[in-house]
Amino acid sequence: MVTEQTLSEFLTEQIQLVEAAMHRLAPPETAHPETIHKAMRYSLFAGGKRIRPILCLQAAEAIREDVPGAMDAAASLEMIHTYSLIHDDLPALDNDDYRRGKLTNHKVFGEAMAILAGDALFTLAIQTLVNIKGLSAEARLALVEELSIASGTLDGMIGGQVTDLEGEGKPATAELLELIHRAKTGALLRASVRMGAICAGASAEQLAALSAYGEHTGLAFQIIDDILDIEESSEALGKTAGKDVAQGKITFPAVYGLETSRRMAQEECAKAHAALAMFGDRAKRLHEIADLIVYRKS
Ligand code: IPE
Ligand code: IPE
Ligand code: MG
Ligand code: MG
Ligand code: MG
Repeated sequence: MVTEQTLSEFLTEQIQLVEAAMHRLAPPETAHPETIHKAMRYSLFAGGKRIRPILCLQAAEAIREDVPGAMDAAASLEMIHTYSLIHDDLPALDNDDYRRGKLTNHKVFGEAMAILAGDALFTLAIQTLVNIKGLSAEARLALVEELSIASGTLDGMIGGQVTDLEGEGKPATAELLELIHRAKTGALLRASVRMGAICAGASAEQLAALSAYGEHTGLAFQIIDDILDIEESSEALGKTAGKDVAQGKITFPAVYGLETSRRMAQEECAKAHAALAMFGDRAKRLHEIADLIVYRKS
């Protein structure tokens, strides 16, 4: 009898697959100039939940099995995410000393190298997508467009980071809050499922359903990140807790309080589940990941 993998076994296996792909795709530490490759690999392999790549792989899986290119697309998402974390932690941004349970990139390699390691992970992500084997040029172009728009300034990650930084210490409005969260975090989570769908050759209807799933889980993800910053310890999070209040950030708990924020995250989660209706059992893991995003402790 074949026994079903538990969610935790499944996640462990997915993380190993994604990390193996990133090991294959990132230049070795011995390549010249060594410092930058050491800095890139330090943050890439410092741990992390690997939620974005797993979402990409499982969105592809919801459509069909063994989708070519999905693993490299997944790795490219983690490269962009890791770059965004390295830069988010810089003294000029959130000024954090710990990330993923280790010293931040600039604490180990210095600010100049951390800036360059972030830049280099961005270019490596694009290069990875351009080089994907087994996908048409049209599909690869669609992936590059998806990832660059989600990382960019118009409702993308960088735009969200700018609004987040400019909002520090300012009065928070509900509109501004949602704008920041959808852009700085939501855009990349939405792109994660969309990129898996693109690799799998999704229909317009499937792509729309997965986009809705990505938007709802994306917003829920950052609401929970804000809640954890208040409720959990630095040890549990692997990054300094309590920083949002200290830095006057515009967060969900700051605007709505903890209880309402948690309920709002659960509402987003319910909408994410509903968006998956057309996929039936094929979306089993996507359903589980939506719950994981809301009920996680780190
Ligand atoms: C942290 O992301 C930054 C946000 C966008 C909220 P994650 O919580 O996914 O961090 P890792 O990748 O697991 O370290
Ligand atoms: C970061 O948001 C979003 C990114 C684009 C990296 P936060 O600043 O809340 O992330 P943490 O809490 O430092 O991980
Ligand atoms: Mg930040
Ligand atoms: Mg931060
Ligand atoms: Mg945070």
